[in-house]
Amino acid sequence: MNDAEPNPDRLTVTDSRTGRTYELPITEGTVKALDLRQIKVSADDFGLMTYDPAYQNTASCRSTITYIDGDKGILRYRGYPIEELAERSSFLEIAYLLLNGEMPTTEELKTWTAEITNHTFIHENIKRFIDGFHHDAHPMGILVSAVGALSTFYPESKQIHDPATRHREIVRLIAKMPTLAAFAYRHAMGLYYAYPDDDLSYTGNFLNMMWRATELKYKPNPVLEHALDVLLVLHADHEQNCSTSTMRLVGSSQADPYSAMSAACAALYGPLHGGANEQVLRMLNTIGGVANVPEYIRRVKAGEFRLMGFGHRVYKNFDPRAQLIKRVAEEVFEVTGPSPLLDIALEIERIALEDDYFIAHKLYPNVDFYSGIIYLAMGIPVEMFPVLFAIGRTPGWLAQWEEGLLDPDQKIGRPRQVYAGYLERHLKS
Ligand code: ACO
Repeated sequence: MNDAEPNPDRLTVTDSRTGRTYELPITEGTVKALDLRQIKVSADDFGLMTYDPAYQNTASCRSTITYIDGDKGILRYRGYPIEELAERSSFLEIAYLLLNGEMPTTEELKTWTAEITNHTFIHENIKRFIDGFHHDAHPMGILVSAVGALSTFYPESKQIHDPATRHREIVRLIAKMPTLAAFAYRHAMGLYYAYPDDDLSYTGNFLNMMWRATELKYKPNPVLEHALDVLLVLHADHEQNCSTSTMRLVGSSQADPYSAMSAACAALYGPLHGGANEQVLRMLNTIGGVANVPEYIRRVKAGEFRLMGFGHRVYKNFDPRAQLIKRVAEEVFEVTGPSPLLDIALEIERIALEDDYFIAHKLYPNVDFYSGIIYLAMGIPVEMFPVLFAIGRTPGWLAQWEEGLLDPDQKIGRPRQVYAGYLERHLKS
């Protein structure tokens, strides 16, 4: 490559097949993939495409919601650093911020909280629907189904171009997610369903629906209530990740938000995404003790399996959420007592951070490395981990979904392919 005369905001491309040169405009650090289409070898050539199966270098949308600089370990919602938000704001304030672009005033927060609190109950038929699942059904499977099923209870949600309808469905989804999640858990435990308590905070009410037994009024532990709130804040959005891209893609077909969010939950369920914290716990249990960590790391390096909770597509130096979550873990363990799994996790972290393999591959603990240990210490079973992630991610999904709908550039998502099969063949006569 030779340095030619600089041409601002243009990419000059020479096609070695034809010798022709093209000038492609550069806007906001991108070239438009469709601009490549003009690059052809002949008139009937389809034109050049990009090949990017995992969207590793493709911007699928313009967004004003979440900013990440993976190299510097920066995460900001609407411009505010995650560190400030996690310390000073509640999950419902963050949900408002993500959806509306600004922090709520005191009055706006009061109205917003009241709206959410008013919609925490679910239709009794949803309860019966949950009853139909097998006793050992994974709560994430129940959540995926129940969120999708809500669309049949609110058929008006199809009016996605009506702002008032969109707002109502957004409120319903944020309000009902903890209820669906807690009911899925209580179904697995064979326990009666504990109804929402409108006097409690968003997370306090979730703990109430999870744990209330015979007491008339459940009193959440304030440290655990706050820890859960911080965890939800840290998970609230993460720009165009797998589940959010799924939400936008399904939303681009103008499906209702329940159907789109059910698909997003399904994407989150996978072990490489929201299922990772569950996998971290399984891994720590498999390792069994601090003494076994070096052998486990050796096997990871030999390529036998991956170290769950390590690595990230975007963060290549550190995950800022993992650092914040580590602090939350210390607060929680003061209440719940120490965890032997935490000792194993800390040993893994210590060895991996000094190891050439992990340094060379830029592998650091991600948010899920600690969240699972905290949830377990709080008494939340492993199967519920991705469900909690889904509650936290709900406002982010909805903000991204709505932004997509309002984006004049959005069309139905429809990638191209490189066809690599038979060009044409015929059945034997
Ligand atoms: N353990 C060991 N090696 C790893 C790990 C890991 N956790 N992650 C990546 N690598 C290695 C790969 O083997 C590969 O090595 P190679 O180049 O020598 O073949 C290299 O690092 C790059 O890996 P990719 O899979 O190409 O990286 P990608 O950016 O696609 O993957 C991912 C990111 C999926 C998060 C990956 O690091 C992983 O599988 N981690 C474990 C699962 C996990 O913790 N997921 C949670 C993500 S955070 C979230 O969803 C909230």
